[in-house]
Amino acid sequence: MKTALVTGGTSGIGLQISLMLLRKGVHVIICGRNFNSVQEKIAHELPAGAPVSYIKADFTIDKDLVKLVEAAKKTAKKIHYLVHSAGVFYAGRIEEASIENFDELYKVNTRAPFFITKELLEPLQKSQGRVVFINSTAGINSWESIGQYAASKHALSAIAGSFQAELEGDGIKVTSVYPAATDTPMQQKIHLAENRNYDPEKLIPAREVAEIIVDLLFRSSKTVVSEIVIRSLQGRIITKKRQ
Ligand SMILES: NC(=O)c1ccc[n+]([C@@H]2O[C@H](COP(=O)([O-])OP(=O)(O)OC[C@H]3O[C@@H](n4cnc5c(N)ncnc54)[C@H](OP(=O)(O)O)[C@@H]3O)[C@@H](O)[C@H]2O)c1
Repeated sequence: MKTALVTGGTSGIGLQISLMLLRKGVHVIICGRNFNSVQEKIAHELPAGAPVSYIKADFTIDKDLVKLVEAAKKTAKKIHYLVHSAGVFYAGRIEEASIENFDELYKVNTRAPFFITKELLEPLQKSQGRVVFINSTAGINSWESIGQYAASKHALSAIAGSFQAELEGDGIKVTSVYPAATDTPMQQKIHLAENRNYDPEKLIPAREVAEIIVDLLFRSSKTVVSEIVIRSLQGRIITKKRQ
């Protein structure tokens, strides 16, 4: 049985990926802080006894990260799929942006995926595994009020590029996925904070992002898909520059 570790597997895109992998018979180690809704969904949507494990960790706390990788290595000798979906979002113009939020963005969006990948190299090497970093179109461009989030995702992109070059000799394939606005609890919070109407029809369904990623994980080929940009049919990647 293959094993996947999915950070942010408790909500949004990571939750959809976890459910799809479980349906395909993969043992999924779900990492997050709140397991109530994922456990409810699994109980509701999957047959009893689905091969799932849970590791609780807050990525802003170093000892939680250490415990996470130790628990993961105890749970599985080989990790075939490592999916980094955990993420936080804060926006704010330069005059109002909070430095504490910037620190949290860095810890959760950039530093944690770096640490977890680094510490799980052995189980990934044993399986010639695949690593997916869920990035964002804000990891390609930047626009007004989004500098701190975009910086955390640009940095993640740099790390992914470097890991890809370093790890391909071990047979490990690394992919960055850059979705535009996707229908998830994170996007609902963004709309609420910006006082905008939430219309899921204008957003990418989280399930579609998950399908693309799971298809990629199951591809066996000699090629590496290093980057995937996903945007909605109605949408476009918006690059706003301040006047
Ligand atoms: N939604 C979008 O429009 C969009 C667009 C582009 C890229 N993305 C990226 O896609 C990824 C998934 O986002 P989503 O939209 O699915 O968001 P989401 O529904 O809010 O899920 C975020 C996940 O991150 C985990 N997380 C947050 N803070 C954490 C912390 N301190 N420690 C450990 N885990 C933490 C949450 O776990 P708990 O809830 O259990 O704490 C949750 O499972 C993120 O990296 C995000 O930046 C999202």
